[in-house]
Amino acid sequence: MKHKDISYKRAGKFEESRYEKIHNVVFDNSIIASIAVAEEISNLIKSKQKTNEKCIIGLATGSSPIAVYNELIRLHNEEKLSFHNVITFNLDEYLPMHKKDIQSYYYFMHEHLFNHIDILPENIHIPDGTVSNDGLYQYCVDYELKIRDTGGLDYQLLGIGRTGHIGFNEPGSEESSITREVTLNQITLDDAAPSFGGVENVPTKAITMGVASVLKAKCIYLMAYGAGKAQIVSDTITNDITDKVPATYLQKHTNTIFVLDNEASSLLPA
Ligand code: F6R
Repeated sequence: MKHKDISYKRAGKFEESRYEKIHNVVFDNSIIASIAVAEEISNLIKSKQKTNEKCIIGLATGSSPIAVYNELIRLHNEEKLSFHNVITFNLDEYLPMHKKDIQSYYYFMHEHLFNHIDILPENIHIPDGTVSNDGLYQYCVDYELKIRDTGGLDYQLLGIGRTGHIGFNEPGSEESSITREVTLNQITLDDAAPSFGGVENVPTKAITMGVASVLKAKCIYLMAYGAGKAQIVSDTITNDITDKVPATYLQKHTNTIFVLDNEASSLLPA
């Protein structure tokens, strides 16, 4: 199928995007948008296979990437897309959190992707929500080094929180931040409350890759769908860079593409 072109273009180059500081592509709905994103990922994996290279991908959880993962599974089952050369690093995990817990991002990733494709288990990296307080700092440093030593991220998939977080880099996060322990913003806790059966059950801490960890990726695709994301998408794309909206740091990255649906793009300037 021929999709809209979602490759990178420099924002501000054309009159139409004079208020926009991040290149974005708008789709009629999130399913066709997600299929286009999955195709980009699939093309990258296959091009790396041709040259016998590993493909290092940063992954997100949450509602935004689910249809991408569904499409990747379909490509694996029906079009023989193999993940044997793929190494993944997930952005974040709640703290404390057990792998077996159905609210864990470990569980989410296996349920929505890893259990259905041929990725090697040793190539999967998800921050461990059971690390003890004593070992936490070193664990985070090691996670960061592991990304670097593996060759660095070829591709980073992101969602965006209503606080403007990427990963769990909440307002106030530094541009230089790396993988570390963070405290979640109240809006983020409220948004997670339904899946935890009440806000009092949501862990208030997490491990997240940092802003700097994300910005090092060679290519970044951020997906945002639905009216609930319209305000933060508009703030991120049109405001100046500020730690109050950590996603604005993406304005500095020269290969970032926002993939939106009509609702999420509805507050962008005409
Ligand atoms: C998840 C993550 C978060 C989400 C964001 C959007 O691993 O890092 O930044 O991407 O909270 O979540 P959804 O897609 O559920 O709206």
